Amino acid sequence: MITVTTATEHDLPIIREIAHQTWPSTFGEILSAEQIAYMLDMMYSMDALKRQVHEKNHVFLLAQEAESQAYLGFTSYEFDYKGLLKTKIHKIYLLPASQGKGVGKLLINRVAKIAWTHGNATLSLNVNKYNKAIQFYERMGFSTVDTETIDIGNGFLMEDYVMEKPLKI
Ligand SMILES: CC(C)(COP(=O)(O)OP(=O)(O)OC[C@H]1O[C@@H](n2cnc3c(N)ncnc32)[C@H](O)[C@@H]1OP(=O)(O)O)[C@@H](O)C(=O)NCCC(=O)NCCS
Repeated sequence: MITVTTATEHDLPIIREIAHQTWPSTFGEILSAEQIAYMLDMMYSMDALKRQVHEKNHVFLLAQEAESQAYLGFTSYEFDYKGLLKTKIHKIYLLPASQGKGVGKLLINRVAKIAWTHGNATLSLNVNKYNKAIQFYERMGFSTVDTETIDIGNGFLMEDYVMEKPLKI
């Protein structure tokens, strides 16, 4: 069985560790090693994670294997993104050994339920144009609504699709 809990500040090092273990296999063939290191530092340093939680209203959920309490992965979301009735999924990363076993589906469905209960009507996210997670999102009911090229500094760009999923009961 899988348990999903809301992370506290105490859990941020676990999130950081999962990201560091997951990013090389996720982005190794898409981004340079320099860009991966730059983005991990920008998005997953303890200061950056604390800012996301305390200043940007990101909520992190952790998935754990119930019996062993082993951490499998995490997601983060933000209600009312840009003042709209949308919940933005900022991150979803599962450890390589925990992928392909239904945990991602469980986390997306959990965020969908939380977002709907909050009163949001849409889930929104950005995904790298070359990430095979796109097929997962399509399977989960997302479709591409836009493309975005984001300058993240240091000469690095993020080339993304914006994908959305309408929510209903
Ligand atoms: C993307 C990710 C969160 C998906 O979670 P997951 O647990 O591996 O996916 P699930 O096992 O829950 O799959 C759910 C469904 O999507 C399908 N699916 C998953 N990955 C797929 C793929 N690459 N291509 C086609 N279908 C896929 C599954 O077959 C399953 O279908 P089903 O409902 O008919 O059984 C996970 O693989 C991951 O962490 N990947 C690396 C990090 C990453 O890319 N994160 C996204 C950044 S934007």
